[in-house]
Amino acid sequence: MNRENRGVPSETLQRIRDRTDLVDLISSYVTLTKAGQNFKGLCPFHSEKSPSFSVSPARQMFYCFGCSVGGDAFTFLMKQEGLEFMEAVRELSQRAGIPLPERSDRSGKPTSALPRQRYFQIYDAAAAWYHRNLVEAPEGARARDYLLQRGITQESWKTFQLGYAPDEWHGVGKWLERQGMQPEELVKAGLAVRKEQTEGTRVSIYDRFRHRVIFPICDVRGQVLAFGGRTMDTDTTAKYLNSPETDLFFKGRSLYGLPQARISATTAGCFYLVEGYFDVIALHQYGMTNVVAPLGTALTSDHVQMLHRLVPSAFLLFDGDAAGVGAALRTLDLFMNSGVEVRVVLFPQGEDPDSFIRTQGVQAFRALEAKAPTLLDFAITCILDKTKQNSIQDRIKRADEILAILQKTKNPIEKDEYLKILSERLGIRPEMLRKRMSTLRATGSSGKPSTTKSEQPAVQVVPKGKVEERDLMVLLLQGRLETVYLDQLEEEKFAVGLYQHIVRRMHAHRDAAGRIDLDALRGELMDDPALGAAVSHLCVWDLYLEDAVEYVQGCLRTLERNWLNRALEEVTARLKTADRDGRHEEVDRLNAEQNALTGKKASLMRSWMNESGMMKNF
Ligand code: CTP
Ligand code: MN
Repeated sequence: MNRENRGVPSETLQRIRDRTDLVDLISSYVTLTKAGQNFKGLCPFHSEKSPSFSVSPARQMFYCFGCSVGGDAFTFLMKQEGLEFMEAVRELSQRAGIPLPERSDRSGKPTSALPRQRYFQIYDAAAAWYHRNLVEAPEGARARDYLLQRGITQESWKTFQLGYAPDEWHGVGKWLERQGMQPEELVKAGLAVRKEQTEGTRVSIYDRFRHRVIFPICDVRGQVLAFGGRTMDTDTTAKYLNSPETDLFFKGRSLYGLPQARISATTAGCFYLVEGYFDVIALHQYGMTNVVAPLGTALTSDHVQMLHRLVPSAFLLFDGDAAGVGAALRTLDLFMNSGVEVRVVLFPQGEDPDSFIRTQGVQAFRALEAKAPTLLDFAITCILDKTKQNSIQDRIKRADEILAILQKTKNPIEKDEYLKILSERLGIRPEMLRKRMSTLRATGSSGKPSTTKSEQPAVQVVPKGKVEERDLMVLLLQGRLETVYLDQLEEEKFAVGLYQHIVRRMHAHRDAAGRIDLDALRGELMDDPALGAAVSHLCVWDLYLEDAVEYVQGCLRTLERNWLNRALEEVTARLKTADRDGRHEEVDRLNAEQNALTGKKASLMRSWMNESGMMKNF
C-alpha cells in the first residue's frame, strides 16, 4: 500500500494516532469482543465464519490471522474505505481535532472527481440547509404538514436530519455557491444538473432536488454521502429521486438508517431489513431502532457482508404479496452460508412495516416476529405449498427444486433435518432423496453468478464450473493467448469474481502495443494473499488443446452468450418490479434495454450460424 506522505510531520501523525481510538474506529464496521488483552471480530477484508481479526488497544494495531492484513488506524481506514494515505490522515485528523499544515491539506486525488473532504463539506452544508428549510422556513410549511400528517415526528426530523428542497431551480445551488462552492463541484457531487446550453465560460446549473422531502443517506459513521428525495404530489413525477452514484456513494453498499441503527443492532444482535425510508423511520418511532433499508435496489452480497460483521442475525420484513415473497426468495442465495441467520416476516397483503406498525401496534408486530420462519424454512414451505400432492411428476419436480437449495447449505445437520421433513411431506424415502441430491450435484451446480465485484476477494480457490472462463484464465496466465484475444477479454463478460479481477489487472498491465508483461501480472496477483492459491493453481493447470484458436473462439462465444442471457434475465426481473411499482419512466427505459439486448442476441446468433453453419444450444 502506498503511504505517500505529503509533508505531514511524523509527530503530527503520531498525535493523530494517539488521539484516535482504534477499537472505536473499527467498531463502526465490525463487532469486536474482548479476548484477553485484545479484541476479536470478523475480518472486514476477507470473508470468514469465525473471527481471526484481532485489534490490540495497547499497540493501536490490528492484524488478521486469516488474510495477514494488518496495520494502524490509517491503514485500517485506507483499506476499509479505499482511501489514499493522505485522505485517511485528513479524515482522522479532522475527527481528532488536530489541524494539518496548510500545504498538505490542499492536495486531492489526481482524478476528475472531488477530494473526499470536499464532498463532505458540500453534503454537510446542503443537509444543514435542507434541514433548516424543513424546520423553520416559510416555504417548508407544505413539507412539515406532509410529514406530520404521515406521522413522522419532529424528533425523527432531527434523528434523520430530514429536510426540504424548495420548489426552485436555484435553491441549494445558490446557497452553496455563496458558501464558496463552484457550480462544477455541485454537479460532481450530484446536487446540481448541468444545463444543456452553457453561455459563455460560466457553467450553468440547476438543482436536482426540487420540491421534495429530503432524506440524507449516510455511511455507517453518520457522514452524509447522498440524498433521497420524495415528492409530495401524486402526479406522474417519480415518487423517489436519489443522488447519482459518485466515487463515494454506491447504492449496493449503502443502507439507509445504518448510523442510527448500528448501536442498538449490535446490542440486540440483529437488524431488521425493510424496503423503504418511511419503514425505517416508523419502526424507529415505535422503539425498534435496529432497522435499515437498501435504497430501492435488491440486497447485494456487500450489504450482507456489512451486516455479517456487525450482527449474527437479521429479519427480512416484506410485504406479503407475491412480489414480497419473490423478493424474499431472491435473497436466499445471498444469505445461504453467509453466516447471517435470517428470518422472514411477511405482513398482510398491501401492508408495509410502516403502515402495519401504525395500525396494528408493537404487540402485533412482535407476534409476527415471534413466529417468523427461517429463510430456508420459508423457501422450502413456499415450494411445498405449491406442490400438487396427487401428481407424482410434480412431487419429483418440487423435490428437485428443494434439493437444489439444500445442496448449497454447508451445514450437514441442517441438510439432514430438512431431508426428513421433505421425505415426510412428499412421501419420498430419505435415501432416495439423498441419492437424487448427489446426482444433481454431479450434473454441475451452476450457481447464480455473483453480481457484485469485491475489491478484496476472500482467499480464493479455483471455482468449480464455468469451465470456459477458467480455461481462458489458464491460457492467459500461461501466456498462450494472442494479443487479439486479450483485447476480447472483458471483465463484465465473466461471471466469476476472481476472473473478473484477473482480467481487470491484466488490462492494467498492458503496454501501448497491447502486450502484457506476464511476470509483472503474475507477480502482482500472487502478492495478494487472497489470490495466491488460485492464481498459482491456474498457472500450473494442465490444459492440452488440439486446436487452441477454435477453442478460444468457442469460449469467448459462450461467455458472450451467457452474459447476454444474464443481462436479459436481470433486465426482465427489473422490468417486472418497475412495472409493479408503476415506475413508468423506468419501464420505458428497461423495455428499450431489453429490446436492445434481444436484438444483439439475435444478430449474434445469426452471425455465428453463418460462420459455423449450425447453432450450438443458444
Ligand atoms: N424507490 C425508489 N424509486 C421509486 C420507488 C421506490 O427509489 N420510484 C425506493 C425508495 O428507496 C423507497 C423504496 O424503494 O423507500 C420502497 O418503495 P416504496 O415501498 O414504494 O416506498 P415507501 O418508502 O414505502 O414510501 P411511501 O410509503 O411514501 O410510498
Ligand atoms: Mn410505504
